[in-house]
Amino acid sequence: MDQIAITGGAQLEGEIPISGAKNSAIKLMAASLLSDEPLRLTNMPRLADTRFLGRLLHRLGTEVTESQNGAGPETVLHTPEIVSAFASYDLVRKMRASFNVLGPLIARTGHAKVSLPGGCSIGARPVDLHLKALEALGASIDLHEGYVYAQAPRGLKGAEISFPFVSVGATEHTLLACVLAEGETVISNAACEPEIEDLADCLNAMGAKVCGAGTPTIRVTGVAHLHGATHAVVPDRIEAGTYAMAAGMAGGEVTLTGVRPHHIAILLDKMEEAGVQVTRGNGSCTLKRNGARLRAVDLSTDPYPGFATDLQAQFMALMTLADGESVIRETIFENRFMHAPELSRLGADITVSGGEARVRGVGGLEGAQVMATDLRASVSLVIAGLAARGDTVVNRVYHLDRGFERLEAKLSACGARIRRLSDDEEG
Ligand code: EPZ
Repeated sequence: MDQIAITGGAQLEGEIPISGAKNSAIKLMAASLLSDEPLRLTNMPRLADTRFLGRLLHRLGTEVTESQNGAGPETVLHTPEIVSAFASYDLVRKMRASFNVLGPLIARTGHAKVSLPGGCSIGARPVDLHLKALEALGASIDLHEGYVYAQAPRGLKGAEISFPFVSVGATEHTLLACVLAEGETVISNAACEPEIEDLADCLNAMGAKVCGAGTPTIRVTGVAHLHGATHAVVPDRIEAGTYAMAAGMAGGEVTLTGVRPHHIAILLDKMEEAGVQVTRGNGSCTLKRNGARLRAVDLSTDPYPGFATDLQAQFMALMTLADGESVIRETIFENRFMHAPELSRLGADITVSGGEARVRGVGGLEGAQVMATDLRASVSLVIAGLAARGDTVVNRVYHLDRGFERLEAKLSACGARIRRLSDDEEG
């Protein structure tokens, strides 16, 4: 298995282009199942997760064509007909978001058999809200031997769906199912993440009638057919926030391009509070830190527009070097502090109790071997390694490859000493 080796201590100077958002791209790809005409997605990130979903969609009947032209990477997805409405355990287990094909399959064919995803390292992550929403839309749902068997032979019907708490996945999944339902659907307490707006924009470009995405109430008037469209994937706010914190951690001056700074507004405010200089541009953002020590800042994760749970691990890494104690509360997932013991291997001083971590800043970190446990945890170890004295080796890099496009190339272009060790040269 590949490793990432980092020799810490180099400041970052330069520009980092931000890719399209993984967590949007994979829902947009699922949306292509809703039409028999091609969906052309531009600004597509090339990631293990998008490749994997492409293979699953291919089995369901989608022709997936990737290309790279002057305007950047794009993928055309075309599903003239659904040839299979089955997604196996093996496929859904490897990538939870594969579960999102369930709604489009029911909407387009009236039936589907899709494996339940099961838990993952950051939490139990049930899908009860997804299934209740599909039932409210008129699908009959049976669970047997780990599979969802769904039927809606006469099509889905619009409904009032009120979520008891905010779920990004359940909001997206409901949207993916109800755009072809007969009549109106109202989703209350919907998630407001930029990825939801992006999905709604894409569906509207395909002929759907979705209003209010990005607010807690989304209204959808069902249509009989969706057509082909071209849609640009929204910039990845988690990738942008991660590199912002890499710059804060290593010091220097980095400009992120192709980014929407208002999508990471709370993070940028917290970074300023911590002593990083932030310049917000139109489509760009510059982070600068001269040698001054960071200040400790507290945070609590929350649904958008609150502080993203997907940026919590990286912020914890930043706080390991701050002056004072930072209290970090994780409110979205019950087991999302697995990076804390790994950061401690680099010399961080962190105590975790339930959903709260206390990070007492230290004067410096020291390189070590560390283990990646999930996507965002792994990248927190990389950015900590950039600031640590000596060499850090991050194991289980496949987690990083799921969600960070050309990570080593983007960081080394700014002067980071980072490289991938393949199997035969592992340290
Ligand atoms: C999405 O996960 C993202 N994944 C996550 O990013 C992100 O951390 C999360 O949203 C929160 O922003 C993708 O977009 C593929 P939720 P999702 O439904 O949709 C509970 C990454 O690293 N819940 O908003 O699964 C759930 O257990 C990943 O890129 C139920 O109880 O998140 C959690 O505690 C990790 N029942 C909370 O709701 C349900 O039916 C919020 O989860 C659904 C969710």
